This record gives sequence, C-alpha cells and structure tokens, in this order.
Amino acid sequence: MCGIVGYIGPKQAPSILVEGLKKLEYRGYDSAGISVLNGSIQVKKAKGRLAVLEEKLMAEPLEGNLGIGHTRWATHGKPSDENAHPHTEQSGNFVVVHNGIIENYLTLKEELIQKGHQFVSETDTEVIAHLLSDLFDGDLISTVRKAVAKMSGAYALGIIYKNEPDKLVAVRLASPLIIGLGKGENFLASDIPAILEHTRDVIILNDGEMAILTQDSVQVTTLTGENLQREPLKVDWDIETAEKGGYDHFMLKEIYEQPKAFRNTMGSRIDSQSGKVVFPELQLTKDEIQQVDRLYIVACGTAYHAGLIGKNIIEQLLRIPVEVEVASEYRYKNPIINERTMVMVISQSGETADTLAALRESQRLGAKVFAITNVVGSSVAREADQVIYTWAGPEIAVASTKAYTSQLIALYLFAIYLAQELGTQDSALLQQLVEELVKLPEKAEQILANTEEIKQFAEGIKEKEHLFFIGRGLDYAVSLEGSLKLKEISYIHSEAYAAGELKHGTLALIEENIPVIALATQESLLDKTVSNITEVKARGAKVLGIAYEDNTEIGKSVDQVITIPRTHPLLSPALSVIPLQLLAYYTSLARGNDVDKPRNLAKSVTVE
Ligand code: M6R
Repeated sequence: MCGIVGYIGPKQAPSILVEGLKKLEYRGYDSAGISVLNGSIQVKKAKGRLAVLEEKLMAEPLEGNLGIGHTRWATHGKPSDENAHPHTEQSGNFVVVHNGIIENYLTLKEELIQKGHQFVSETDTEVIAHLLSDLFDGDLISTVRKAVAKMSGAYALGIIYKNEPDKLVAVRLASPLIIGLGKGENFLASDIPAILEHTRDVIILNDGEMAILTQDSVQVTTLTGENLQREPLKVDWDIETAEKGGYDHFMLKEIYEQPKAFRNTMGSRIDSQSGKVVFPELQLTKDEIQQVDRLYIVACGTAYHAGLIGKNIIEQLLRIPVEVEVASEYRYKNPIINERTMVMVISQSGETADTLAALRESQRLGAKVFAITNVVGSSVAREADQVIYTWAGPEIAVASTKAYTSQLIALYLFAIYLAQELGTQDSALLQQLVEELVKLPEKAEQILANTEEIKQFAEGIKEKEHLFFIGRGLDYAVSLEGSLKLKEISYIHSEAYAAGELKHGTLALIEENIPVIALATQESLLDKTVSNITEVKARGAKVLGIAYEDNTEIGKSVDQVITIPRTHPLLSPALSVIPLQLLAYYTSLARGNDVDKPRNLAKSVTVE
C-alpha cells in the first residue's frame, strides 16, 4: 500500500521525507519519490528500493522547506520511474502524491486529453495533477475542492502548488492520512511511524476531511469548506508498535484489515446502478467463455485452498468441471490441455516458483492463463494473459489471511460474472449473491468485534498435540485452511477431514479430550455433519462448532459454539474462516511462538 509523507517548516525537507518514507517501508512498495518546492517544483523518483532514490539524491541533491514524498505500491501501471509518484502536470504548477484508487480516472483522463493535456504515466494519480491545473481558479484550496468533487474512489492526497509556497494540502477519503503537529513545522503522513521522530501530537484525519498545513498552523475542514475543530492525540507507541498500527502483530492487523480488503476487492467491480458484476480489466468475449469446457485452478498452500472454494462456486454456478491442482504437482503431471481449457493461477505474492512454473507450463501447452494475484508487477501478473488483482494491500505476516479472503471475493465475482455472461443461472440468484457479497465486510466486522470465546478456546488447546477440523462441502474446504493456519503458526499437529470420511480410518485417532473443530454452516448438509459430530463426541472428543448465529440447535451437539452472521451458503467461507484465523493466532500467541515469522517458513516461496 502506498505511503505518503509531507513536510512544511524551516528545515530541509528532502531528508525528513526520505527518513519518513523509510518508516513506511513495512507497507510494501516498488518505487519511491520526493518533490520539493524551491522556486519551482522539483521531483526525483525511482523504481525500486528507497536506496535507489537516495543514490539519485546524492548525485543530484534537492533543497527546499516544503515537500511531499511517496512510496508506491503499484495499482495502475507497472512499477517504473514514470509511474512512481510524485506526479506533476505539463505546466509544472501542481505536484501530487496519492494513496488509493481514483475509480473514474479513465473518464477524467479522456476529457483532459481532449482538452490538450499530455500524460506521461499510466497512473490514475497523474490525472489529479492535470485536473487541478484544468480547474484552477486562482486559489489552491478552492481548486482542490473542485477537483475532489469530480473524483470518485478511495484516496489520500498530498498536494503542493508552486505559487502558494506557504501551503501543503492534505485530503482524505477512505485511505489513511494523519497530520503531525510540530513547533514551527508540520507534517503529513499515511501512518504515525513516519513522523514519530519529530512529534507525538497527531491529528488523524477522518474520511471526507481536508487539512491545510502551513509552517505554524493546521486547519482541518470538510471537503466543502466548513471548518472543523480537531483535538490532537498524544501518541505514546514505540515505532515498532506504530508500524503495526497498534496491533501486536502484522497477522492480527491483517486479520482486522479483512473488511477493508473485501471492499477493495469488490471496488468498482460491482456496478451500483445495475447491481451486476463487471470486470473492465478482462478481455473475454462471451464466445470465448462459451468455448471453455474445463477449468484448471492451480496454486500453492492457502491460495490452493482458495482454489478449492473457487471450484465449488464455479461448478455450482456454471456447471463446468473444475480441477484444482497443487502447482508443484501440476507442473510435472503433463496436464490435459486443449483450446477449450482455461487455466487460472492464484498467488498472493505472484512470485511463488511452483505457481509460476505451472503458469509457464500451461502457456507452453497452449492455454490462456488467468491470474488472481495481490502484487501488481509481480512475475505472475506480468506473465499471465489476464490478471485480476485482489487489491488487499501488502500482506507481511507469513500466515496468509486477508489475501485468502480477498482471493475468495475475487473468485466469487469472477464466477458470478461468467454466470451472468452465459446466463447459466437465474438472474435473481446472481442478484442475491451480489447483495450478500456487499454485506460481507460488515458481517466480518461483527465477527472481529467479538473474540473473547476464541481466545478462551485457544488457551484450552495450547498444550494439545493433535487436533482435527471437520466439515462437509464448502465447510470441508475451509477446514483445510483452518488446519493449515493452525499448523503453520502454533506448530500443533492438525488434520482436516471431510466429516463423512472420518469413519473410514481416521476415527481411530479420536480419543478422550481430543479437540475437534466442526464447521457447520452448510445447511443442506447439516444433519449429516451433526451425525459425524456425534460420532466423535461418542469417542470423547471436545467439539467446537462454527455455525450461523441463528442456529439454535447446534449447541445441543457440541461443547462450545462460535457463531458467525448468516450469509448465502456459497459465501460462508469468507466469514467462517475468520474465527479459524483468530484461533490460530491466539493459540500461537499462547504458546509463545513468533506469530509473524513461524519457524522454517518464508513469506514468498521462490524456490522449488
Ligand atoms: O504467494 P502465494 O499465494 O503464491 O503463496 C502460496 C503459499 O506459499 C502461501 O499461501 C502459504 O501457504 C502461506 N504461508 C499460508 O499461510
């Protein structure tokens, strides 16, 4: 996720900006840049790490007391010098840094091009600089307000105008932005760590707020200009805590970021007028979709588990057979591919060696490859024929959480989109699925607001050596992910089983007090799952059920229940996995493990 830093005061801005950006490195980035005002607007930016920018600044130093800096995590356009922020426009009067997405940037860009504006990058951000210049009415603040009124999306901005060198303007709409209050100097940043070295007095801008910073003052207003009185907070976090947004671990932070990640993945892919799913980024005609008679989904680890859910949804909505393959197997199995086969790879990092090899092997055999990935400009994104980004923001913890659920959202959208195009399902069902999808972020927030019981259960299992997850249908696929999460960070041995399969062997392992986690959200299979729960309870297992909050019966069959809000059964995995992620987290914590960096594992597995 991009990082913004801004400074206005008596000191030299460049070093303050670069040092501030270093504190935002944890957000992930692929390029960086700064701009200062020194008579004219000067910009230095570079693809790659901050060290590359620092080298450029050493060779050609910048000077100035007003500046903005940025680390970019690519969304629109590949990582490159041109696409790095800050962005200016042809007159060189305005310079902008931006975090977030301007959803209507293409329309705005076309209008501006018609008026003679020339663009040098592929970004949505450059549109803002041109828009400011186009709408300029002689006053920076009122021009910013006019520009913001034309933009839709979620964003945070830092803006400088050449002819008003005493002002730094900040705007926040759904992407984070804070103001640091110094003595005779003020700061702007995406997050607190960037400014902690200079001040601990902070104003956190709310959505729909704008701030005008001068050396000696900060005025917060609404986007339409009403003044607001905002009391600063005193921050007493250390830098490390601040990087994690106040959470103890990145994993916990990322678990809590899921509602936002859901919203981002859906983003502009649900048309608010028609309620239909749209995929402007895909080039896929109805004829091409109709040609497909088999789909392979290929991935590793958690992404593979997302693929298992994708299989179920696509088969239900499209009635096309889907095979889900572990990439390390698929690449060597000589897969059966012909012109009617579609291949989809899923990878958070886009750099997993096995997934990349599977992608290449599919292309070698003549398949067109679709990718679902989180990292713009990653190898998978570059090499796939078509890409669906999840927009979940950087995932730092080794244990994947928000990447998994945002992959699910992307798969839901993709399956609904294909079903819409092919007319394989009643439009009322598709409409219902879209309506339920939109409600998922709020329902996830509800689960995250209530974690006491999960913490208690984690305390109860922390000394255990073995544990089982069971479920049927989609609940089984989620069980696999819950089990992987628990294994990788708690180091407790666990197995996930299709609940009906236990009695074919594994039931022999069920003994007194062994914990079993039973997922029971799939109503059509509930009676069967309850029978399997009864079988393990009869052998002494202690069962934790995961069920809908209005399921009043399940409590009679299990020892403890964790509830989730009801949703459409096809969508329940996006919610039912959240208690399992939390359970893994709290169990790992209770065992004193390194939650974010579990032993023997790496975030991105770039070796075979
Ligand atoms: O970056 P990728 O999605 O391709 O990574 C695949 C797996 O290595 C990854 O999901 C791994 O299983 C996670 N550590 C699980 O939490």
